[in-house]
Amino acid sequence: MSVEPAVEMRGIEKSFNGVAVLTGVDFELRRGEVHALAGGNGAGKSTLMKILQGVHSLDAGEIRIDGRPVSLASIHDARAAGIGMVFQEFSLVPTLTVAQNVFLGREPHGRGGLLDDRAAVARTREIFAEMEVDLDPRAELASLGTAYWQLTEIAKALAQEATVLIMDEPTAALAKHETDALFGLVGRLRARGLSIIYISHRMDEIHRISDRITVLRDGMRVVTAPLSELTSEQIIEHIVGRRLEGAMQWHERRADRSGAPLLEARNLRAGSRVRDVSFQLYPGEIVGLAGLMGSGRTELTRCLFGVDRVDGGELLVRGKPVQFRGPRSAIATKIALIPEDRRAQGLVLDHSVRDNLLLPQLAGMRRGPLLDDRAGAAIAGGLIDKLRIKLASDTRPVRLLSGGNQQKVVIAKWLGTDPDVLIMDEPTAGVDIGTKTEIIDMIRALADEGKGVLVISSEMTELLAVSDRILVLRHGSVDRELDRADIPDEETLQLAVQGVAP
Ligand SMILES: Nc1ncnc2c1ncn2[C@@H]1O[C@H](COP(=O)(O)OP(=O)(O)OP(=O)(O)O)[C@@H](O)[C@H]1O
Ligand SMILES: [Mg+2]
Repeated sequence: MSVEPAVEMRGIEKSFNGVAVLTGVDFELRRGEVHALAGGNGAGKSTLMKILQGVHSLDAGEIRIDGRPVSLASIHDARAAGIGMVFQEFSLVPTLTVAQNVFLGREPHGRGGLLDDRAAVARTREIFAEMEVDLDPRAELASLGTAYWQLTEIAKALAQEATVLIMDEPTAALAKHETDALFGLVGRLRARGLSIIYISHRMDEIHRISDRITVLRDGMRVVTAPLSELTSEQIIEHIVGRRLEGAMQWHERRADRSGAPLLEARNLRAGSRVRDVSFQLYPGEIVGLAGLMGSGRTELTRCLFGVDRVDGGELLVRGKPVQFRGPRSAIATKIALIPEDRRAQGLVLDHSVRDNLLLPQLAGMRRGPLLDDRAGAAIAGGLIDKLRIKLASDTRPVRLLSGGNQQKVVIAKWLGTDPDVLIMDEPTAGVDIGTKTEIIDMIRALADEGKGVLVISSEMTELLAVSDRILVLRHGSVDRELDRADIPDEETLQLAVQGVAP
């Protein structure tokens, strides 16, 4: 066995339309290591990996795989060189089965060149057995949850005999137990000699599974070191370029609960997932919504925003019963929802950043004057500044922004409607640590202005940092309602979410 690194990238340069995205980046992946790649939104992580994946060409620099110089002109080249990638955005086809997806684009062909489904199913089953994952290769992908989509992507890379696996924010949409399962799998793959590049914004994950870390900032490498030599604080400092102090610290806030709540649910029922939900959200309050996947959190937000029909119970806005006939009527009462699935529900990817930012405002304006260009540009510019969205020009498609910056566009676009009630489903998923603290500060500032904010998050640290009260949802109803001041630590909240009463 040679001791050459699995991957060596030297002096990588990349510009898009004259804007430098990567400058002189060196990156080395040793054989059998898990190497974390960290950096702020737009730092260039995905771009560096897309170069390694043959999606983007490089302007300068060289790549060696197992010590041999390679030219990766296409995904096909990269695949042949043993590079597999689990994309930040899935590249799967929902209407096909798991096995068909695993062999997508390279189906094993039987007699007459027809896709040999049986061979694909058998091979997929073997791969899942090696992965120690229990999943039926014949299941239709659309019927499965996010965690299984991801496992399918990993199986797809393994089917292609990848020796290097790139995982770009794989846990962004996973629940805690799914994340644990994924980490177990990463450990097993490493033990089998795979080399893994792991992109994440979550410090705890990086510490848990990586051997070394490389941090990019503004397209440059700022550090590569073993995890044992860096604390989370030091890593964060490298990522943001300055110290962040007490960012996730909770402080007590006092909301005035004497008047009518901004939003109130009384025994709300909707579909099969929202069974009996009651709560109140007062002006100036931040209420956290905790619960396991499947507890009904996302479904609840959908009926609060008029997306799904309410089947029973009552919904009141500023003390008056309302019946939403769709998001439009919710928007008219000054409610905004920042959805969890931002790519699907939040953005029109081929439209410009500016158009996306102005979209909900156009929807809110039934008649009246249309926004003229100059006013539109000013409003969009203000939002871009407020959320520090990193872009070359707001007239270019949203699709070209980095993942985290796309998230910010969705948040910004709803802030632009100046809502009284903000429902935020996983507001910081996919955003970097610097932005995360900015978003948390922003949520507090909005509440201080008298808005009511309902925050859903799977990250306990985040809920604990920002909430005044926390509702624990279980099986479609509010199982516990806890004052933030009465929750001593994360463990207590975790137990409440699991349904174990302390
Ligand atoms: N195809 C493209 N055309 C133009 N600009 C692009 C393109 N792809 C990426 N960029 C720009 O390159 C920069 C780096 O983006 P990249 O997606 O690599 O960031 P990232 O580090 O992965 O960020 P995130 O944490 O938000 O996913 C961003 O400013 C982005 O807008
Ligand atoms: Mg990215």
